This record gives sequence, C-alpha cells and structure tokens, in this order.
Amino acid sequence: MKQIRKAVFPVAGLGTRFLPATKASPKEMLPIVDKPLIQYGVEEAIAAGIRQMVFVTSSSKRAIEDHFDRNAELEHELEQRGKQELLKMVHSIVPPEISCIYIRQPEALGLGHAVLCAKPVIGDEPFAVILADDLIDGENVPCLSQMVKLFLREQSSIIGVERIPQEESYKYGIVEPSNLYDRVFDVKSIVEKPKPEVAPSNLAVVGRYLLSAEIFEHLEKIPRGAGGEIQLTDAIAALLKDRRVLAYEFQGRRYDCGSKLGYLQATVDYALKHPEVATSFRDFLKHTTL
Ligand code: G1P
Repeated sequence: MKQIRKAVFPVAGLGTRFLPATKASPKEMLPIVDKPLIQYGVEEAIAAGIRQMVFVTSSSKRAIEDHFDRNAELEHELEQRGKQELLKMVHSIVPPEISCIYIRQPEALGLGHAVLCAKPVIGDEPFAVILADDLIDGENVPCLSQMVKLFLREQSSIIGVERIPQEESYKYGIVEPSNLYDRVFDVKSIVEKPKPEVAPSNLAVVGRYLLSAEIFEHLEKIPRGAGGEIQLTDAIAALLKDRRVLAYEFQGRRYDCGSKLGYLQATVDYALKHPEVATSFRDFLKHTTL
C-alpha cells in the first residue's frame, strides 16, 4: 500500500498582490498572529505523517530556508537569558525527524512548472502539494490529514475542494464532479479559471493536492495554459484520461491569505483563538466602533 511521505511547497511566486510587503520578503513569511504562513503549511504536513518537505523556491526566498534552519546566535542568546520556553518553541519549528529540501525554480513558469521542478526528489511515490497561502483551519482534523486518510483507503490522486460563489470561478481550478459518497467526488473534468458562465460547477480547487507521480509525465508534455503558464490543473486534466482522480470537500475553513481580505480574516480569527491575546483582542473588537 502506498503512503504519502513527501510534501511539495511551491514558494517561488512573486506575491504581487501583497506589494510592497513582499518586495524583499516572501509572501509565505507573512505572519498570522505570530507564525508565518509557511509554518502553518509545514505543521499541517507533519500532522499528516509527512517527513520530507520539498520547497520549490526562487532567489528572493532565502528567509524561508533561514526560518527552517538553526539560528545559533538566537538560541545562544535565549539560553543565556534563561528563556527556556522560547528556546523550546524555536527548536520545535523543525522536529529532528523532519528534513527540508530546497530546489530552485529557475523561471516563473507557473504552478505546474514549480511542481515539475520537484520531480528529482519525489521519484515515483505519491506526494502532497501544499499552497501555503491557502491557510486551512481544519477545526478538529487538519485538512491534509483528512485527505491522507481518504488516500489510504482509495489509493488514488485526491484534490481538496470547496464550494465557492459561482461568480468567483475565474480565480480557481474548477472540477466537474460526480458524487461518490459523503464529501467525495469522482472528477469527470477539471478546468483552470473558467468564466462563471462556463464553469462546470462551483467546486473549486484549494491549495491541497495528493498526486500520483504519473503527474510528472503530463507536466512534461502539456502546453502552456491560462496566463501563459504551465498549469497543474491542465496536467490533472490529462491524468484524468487514464487514472481516477477524486475531489474531497474538506471539513474546515479556508482563508485565501494571498488576498488582503482573506489575510485579515485569518488574522482576526486566529487572534481570537490565540492563548496569549484572545481575551484582550476580543475585548478590543467589542469596543471598536464600526
Ligand atoms: C492556483 C491553482 C488553482 C487553484 C488555486 C487555489 O491558482 O492554479 O487551480 O484553484 O491555486 O488557491 P493561483 O491562486 O496560484 O492563481
């Protein structure tokens, strides 16, 4: 039986929707309260049993490598000052059993191309893809853990989906579903960013995928798609022709942290659950005049 042991994090994007914040620092390092988006993604992968994190990066993303590396100076300073709790927290960012692998995406040719860059590290195993700017609060069970559970049962590629207002279809990959059972659909077709009037449904792909390594053969062959980029959605459409692909409507709430509004919504909701600030932040919100 196949297991999911590796996760790919495409983090080479320019983050233009968040300029000027992203001029010199990666959008994946934007914090939600006190933790960068990419760390939420890595924690979700670890919770799902994944041990190898593969980051597809570009030249302006060194802060991500530094974040998942030791910082001897900081650790020494915390040690000296007796700040054991903070030291423990810094150490726990990358538990010892986790390895981080970095691959450069030499050109900004899209999500599909970024995933293809990870091929030498993935080999022929099924793997996860996590888009860190889709922050998902899985409530009781993290989204990727829900998907891995389904993968272990079904042994086929799975795409995380959620219902969106149909008029927003132009922002997402949209699937044509055929219902199998609760929250699980057979994907009949998939299309990248269709106009609302031609969208096959309102089930949109969010940034969580479990993919068979066969996807690489398709990524190598497909022509450039929407926006002149090599689209992961188009490779999934090609994979579908001879392999079953499932869509899974996850339980939980997704925040589009690549948009300012989604980022602010996540910040408010996560702050209201944060042990250190929840009470006083709630109080602040109550007394804020709208
Ligand atoms: C990418 C994918 C799209 C998916 C979306 C989820 O688009 O191409 O299919 O629905 O992520 O966030 P992007 O947001 O990078 O334009």
